[in-house]
Amino acid sequence: MQTTILGRTNLTVSRMGLGAGGHSRLGRNADLTDAQSADLVRRALDHGVNFIDTAEGYGTEAIIGQALQGRDRTAVVLSTKKSTRNEQVTPDTLQTSLDQSLKHLGTDYIDLYNLHGVVPQDYAYLVNDIYPALQKAQQQGKIRFLGLSEMFNEDFEHTMLQQALADDLWDVLMVGFNLLNQTARANVFAQAIAQNVGIQIMFAVRKALSHPDNLREFTDALVEKGQIDPADLRLSSGRSLDAFPDFLLSEAPSLPDAAYRFCRDEPGVHVVLSGTGNADHLDANLASFARPPLTQETRNRLVHIFRRVNSTTGQAV
Ligand SMILES: NC(=O)c1ccc[n+]([C@@H]2O[C@H](COP(=O)([O-])OP(=O)(O)OC[C@H]3O[C@@H](n4cnc5c(N)ncnc54)[C@H](OP(=O)(O)O)[C@@H]3O)[C@@H](O)[C@H]2O)c1
Repeated sequence: MQTTILGRTNLTVSRMGLGAGGHSRLGRNADLTDAQSADLVRRALDHGVNFIDTAEGYGTEAIIGQALQGRDRTAVVLSTKKSTRNEQVTPDTLQTSLDQSLKHLGTDYIDLYNLHGVVPQDYAYLVNDIYPALQKAQQQGKIRFLGLSEMFNEDFEHTMLQQALADDLWDVLMVGFNLLNQTARANVFAQAIAQNVGIQIMFAVRKALSHPDNLREFTDALVEKGQIDPADLRLSSGRSLDAFPDFLLSEAPSLPDAAYRFCRDEPGVHVVLSGTGNADHLDANLASFARPPLTQETRNRLVHIFRRVNSTTGQAV
């Protein structure tokens, strides 16, 4: 597994991170037992993944705690989050949540503590009223680094993260990015690189890129909205193998494979989260992260085809 330095945190992290939320929640939505979900976590760790992202809202912190029992805690980078939607966070509720997360994870420190799904309208309050409580927890040794995740489904162009970068208070940002919606390149990554801010990616695959039929639905809708030029989906030769996504599948064994590698090799990206509740998918995704970059020609074509798209996250058409 390739590793990198997570920006200003100086933490060494695997390029693939295990996401314990999303639709799969380590198999909680597929009726895996706790023991089977914990096995999935250990399987990822045994193959070189050392970055795990969870949240108080996912119901998976205790499974990760179970998976880590008897393991070297210092070999793992744990990221978890405090919910900020549908509740008014206060310094007291933050403290209670953090202590609960520590208990569930079976640890006395969290490497990266994030405010979860922050919408632009809540950002100022969270900075003014909650950031000092986060700093206090850092001083107590309960948290090492501070992060934010965005609400990509409501903030397709990352306005909250642009504000966060301007304030420069956060060590790591969790960003929605995939080959359909590449707006983070200009709106987040360019500035994050300049400030050496760590970047973890969510939504690399989601619904749109998990299966060619889903992808077709999304591209049809984007053509309909005028965000993709249908001519760009074909090459001038008109050969069917040159059409999208066939050209992609001629150099990648599957769409998820191409989608993860596309995100992995984007400048400024450190960790790409992969969310799954399926051991075969986990193995396939581990193999994807070991594959070489997509060719420059393919990357250029993907950047060109989706250059105007700013209306989807890849979750809902
Ligand atoms: N606002 C936030 O803070 C926020 C929001 C969303 C997600 N997240 C974080 O980001 C992580 C990644 O989330 P994501 O859902 O965007 O992950 P993702 O890796 O982009 O997509 C995961 C989806 O793709 C499927 N999948 C994965 N590998 C596959 C494969 N090889 N073949 C076919 N299908 C495959 C999974 O289903 P199977 O279970 O069937 O494999 C799952 O439904 C989450 O776990 C969470 O930690 C944070």
